[in-house]
Formats: sequence, structure tokens, C-alpha cells
Amino acid sequence: MNSRPKRLRRCQLSVPGSSEKMMAKASQLEVDHVFLDLEDAVAPNAKAEARGMIVKALNTHDWKPKTLCVRINDVETHYCHDDIIEIVTGAGEKIDTIMLTKAKSAHDVKFLDLMLSQLEEKLNLKNRIGIECLIEEVEGIMNVEEIAASSDRLECLIFGMGDYSASQQMNLSSVGGDGGSYPPDIWHYPRYKMTIACRANGLDPVDGPYANFRNPDAHRTECERSNVLGMVGKWAIHPSQVEIAQEVFSPAAKAVESARKAKAAYAEAIQQGLGAINVDGIMVDAASVRILQNIIDKADLIGM
Ligand code: COA
Ligand code: MG
Repeated sequence: MNSRPKRLRRCQLSVPGSSEKMMAKASQLEVDHVFLDLEDAVAPNAKAEARGMIVKALNTHDWKPKTLCVRINDVETHYCHDDIIEIVTGAGEKIDTIMLTKAKSAHDVKFLDLMLSQLEEKLNLKNRIGIECLIEEVEGIMNVEEIAASSDRLECLIFGMGDYSASQQMNLSSVGGDGGSYPPDIWHYPRYKMTIACRANGLDPVDGPYANFRNPDAHRTECERSNVLGMVGKWAIHPSQVEIAQEVFSPAAKAVESARKAKAAYAEAIQQGLGAINVDGIMVDAASVRILQNIIDKADLIGM
């Protein structure tokens, strides 16, 4: 039984923690999930100050109902432990999750897990802080199975194609781009592999950034590809990308209606001893009902 909190992650908006203006704007946006960044969107000489700015923004804005997350620097940097201590001490009750960058092994996640346990006890926090983890190093993809099983705080893995392409020394023209002439989809393998590891461990698989925010059509294509594979959402690095992701990762109202109809028809059919039936020209059996239940569960979580 998966006891992890169920959260919507159709879109995770990345917001630089060094920008008061962008954090204020993000608080007002309608988006499932926001993460305030201490890592790559913040220059090294601005990181220490950004911690305090994030704590202030978390404690002062009205964030509306959304999942609140802070992205921290990886465990091989000297920023990491101070990121965790300052954020949790200053705004532990406001955050739902912490996002760990560049995880390479289960140990990296366990380090954060232990730090959180110590801080929650010391600060007497009532909420239990979850972990989200970026898979964006070649070691991370190699060890994704042990990472996915590393902690019961873990809620979600994100495939971070920007750093990943650097780690593998891929030749691409932009972050999250499609590889140009490379057939057929350059991200297929890591997305597929990470999604399997997530599903086997009850985690949400999320797709990372598409940097060219002036190309909404290409961004939509990337959303559609990861949606088909079973991922639950994609990042936005700019407000204009939010609506596209929220829409693509929501089931169509018509699909929800026919899923509920077919499920009800099947429940009646099995009472009469039938295991496979015809609903509007489509065969429905026990496996189809499992597939339809995924649509219904997603719709219930969204409130459709
Ligand atoms: N979160 C919240 N607000 C954002 C935002 C974000 N990620 N990106 C842009 N905005 C705001 C801008 O401040 C601006 O607000 P305004 O209309 O009140 O002035 C508005 O949205 C339009 O922004 P625009 O002028 O089109 O873009 P920009 O040149 O200001 O910023 C980026 C472009 C790429 C620098 C900016 O989008 C950004 O920093 N994105 C996040 C980068 C990041 O987090 N990277 C790490 C993860 S990959
Ligand atoms: Mg990265």
C-alpha cells in the first residue's frame, strides 16, 4: 500500500530564488506545483542571500493551493547542508517537499532524508517533508532503480535533460530539444527507464525543462510524448509554459466520462458472469478497466 501523499504535478514551475519579483508572480499563478530554486538559476555569489529571500517569500506570500518545494544544491557542493538547514529552519512548515539535484546514488537521497529527520525532530515540525529528486547525471540513470527505492519520503523523480545531456556529452542545440535529425526521440530511453523505476516504487515520474519558451508547439510535443509514456507532468521555466502542461497532463473530459461509463457497465457485466463486453464498439475486460481506472484516478485527483 502506497502511503505517500497524492499531489498533482501536471506542471512544476521553476522560479529563481534570487528573484523577489518572480517569486511574487509565481505565488499568484494557477499551477499545481512551484519550486523555488537555489541551484542553477542562482549565481554562486547570490546563493547565501537567496536562502533568506526564499524563506521570506514562503512566509509572506499567499501561495494559494499548490505544492511548495525548494530545489537545493547537490550533495557534492558545500551549499547543500546549509540549504537544507536554513530552508527547513526558516520555513519548514510552509514547504511540502525538497528537491535534490544531481542524485547519483541512493546514498545521496539518504543524506537528505537523515538531515530532514534530524531537523523535523529538533524543530518539532508537524508536517513530514517529502523528497523529489532529479535524475540528470549518467550515474543517476544507471542507478535509477536503487534511487527510486531509497527513501519512503521520496515522492517523485524528474528527468533533467539539460544536465543529463552535458553529463553524457550529447551534441544538442538547446536544453530539452529534440535532437534534430536523431530518429525518433532522443529522450525515449531515459524517460522510459525512469518512468518504470518510478511506477515500480509508487513515485510520480516528471519530465524536466524545455528551454525555448518562445516555441510553444515544440514544448507541447514534448509534453505529449512524456504524457503517453506515463509521466504525470513537465516543468515550466516560464509562465507561458504552465497552461500547456496543465492541459496536456489532464485527461480529456470526454475520456473521463467514457471511462466512468465503461467501468460501470463492466461492474454490471461481471455480476452476470461476463468477463469481456462491448461498450460502444470497444472491447472492455479486466485489463481495460485497470487502464480506465488510471484515467478516473487522475480525474478524481484533479477534481474533474
Ligand atoms: N517564474 C515566475 N515568473 C516568471 C518566470 C518564472 N520562472 N519567468 C518569467 N517570469 C515573469 C517575468 O518576471 C515577467 O514578469 P512581468 O510581466 O511582471 O514583468 C513575465 O513573467 C514575463 O517574462 P519575460 O519578460 O517573458 O521573460 P524574462 O526575460 O523576464 O525571463 C527567463 C526569462 C528565462 C530569464 C526567466 O523565465 C527565468 O528565469 N526562468 C526560470 C529559469 C530557471 O529556473 N532555471 C532553472 C531550471 S531549468
Ligand atoms: Mg540540472
